[in-house]
Amino acid sequence: MQRLANKRIIVGITGGIAAYKSAELVRRLQDHGADVRVVMTAAAQSFITPLTLQALSGKPVHLDLLDTEAEAAMGHIELARWGDAIVIAPASADFIARFAHGHGNDLLTTLCLAARCPIAVAPAMNQAMWASPANLENIETLRSRKIPLFGPAAGSQACGDVGLGRMLEAEEIAQCTADLFENNILTGKRVVITAGPTREAIDPVRFISNHSSGKMGYSLAEAARDAGAAVTLISGPVNLDCPDRVDRVSVSSAQEMLDAALNVLPADIFIATAAVADYRPDKQANQKMKKKGDGGPLTLTLIENPDIVATVAKQEPKPYVVGFAAETQSVLEYARGKIERKNLDMIVANDVSQAGIGFNSDENAVTAIWPDQEQVLERASKQQIASQLVELIAQKLAAEG
Ligand code: PMT
Repeated sequence: MQRLANKRIIVGITGGIAAYKSAELVRRLQDHGADVRVVMTAAAQSFITPLTLQALSGKPVHLDLLDTEAEAAMGHIELARWGDAIVIAPASADFIARFAHGHGNDLLTTLCLAARCPIAVAPAMNQAMWASPANLENIETLRSRKIPLFGPAAGSQACGDVGLGRMLEAEEIAQCTADLFENNILTGKRVVITAGPTREAIDPVRFISNHSSGKMGYSLAEAARDAGAAVTLISGPVNLDCPDRVDRVSVSSAQEMLDAALNVLPADIFIATAAVADYRPDKQANQKMKKKGDGGPLTLTLIENPDIVATVAKQEPKPYVVGFAAETQSVLEYARGKIERKNLDMIVANDVSQAGIGFNSDENAVTAIWPDQEQVLERASKQQIASQLVELIAQKLAAEG
């Protein structure tokens, strides 16, 4: 299994003989699905060339804080934001000292200061250096900051000594890196999510729609991505940017949303958050309709739209299908009816009559319903609700085997 699918890892290489193992580490991380970028200190370049790492990572290697050309391509702050984790391997005694004391005197230490992602350190040095009081004090500082330490291992060293200080093997470091992402509950899964409203055209300038902002569906897309899934978001017209590392298919009408959904299947999980218009005008006028001006009514005939989630639930292989039910009364009862009628595995009941939750709000409060069980998710941000739902879906999917 690719334990690092969808993850961006920055490998920091410092000056030590174990730097040769970093080339292998880049490969192993890629084998586990990671997108890898490499940062090298000046000392590292005495042990292994940037060209080798560039060829292996397929990306320019980042070397210098003060290189205007490199900074223009991807500056150190941007790089710090890019990474989901930074792994320093090998981490020399000098780097560990500078990192522990918050120095920012080269690209790698500056990156570590700017990063908000986990930073892990794989020490590599001579056993006597490792055991020196200064180094052990620095290591203690890192431990007190909850910096994950990968190793070191004990064994024979390049200098002929035997003892603690060897860098872990590349595969061990890759596995430890994957362990940093506790929330890898959907790794290897393909998730399709519908979000936002649909627009059903009356004429070239008018349409029937609703108040869905897309926030709930987009939060679910982010939560599923963070859980390691490959996510496709089929979105009606909304004012939200496409989340990083999510594939978005933009649609307008219910029919377009259905076509897009069938086009991206098969998937492991299908989540229908979209507020799909149940009806559309039977005809769309080619030109803007003119006011009659006689004070009389205008009659539109509406015909039923296809039911997207119910259609998806009939496909083979059937994904784990999750619907949402936006209701203003008898919320749980209506939601339970929909789980059966639409052949869903789970439905999320959303009371949209309450102020501050549901349509176009930043918060929500829902009840997750399965044929044999229910669970209330108390009011929280849509991001928090989304993470909880993703966890519940992953648990059910795992239980189904
Ligand atoms: O987008 P936000 O502003 O963040 O608001 C979030 C939300 C309120 C839209 C969301 O939480 C929600 O409740 N979505 C479901 C809205 C809805 O249309 O519910 P429904 O009860 O009408 O439909 C039931 C299910 O069938 C839904 O999963 C819906 O996507 C699906 N459906 C409905 C009609 C149709 N033609 N095709 C469908 O797939």
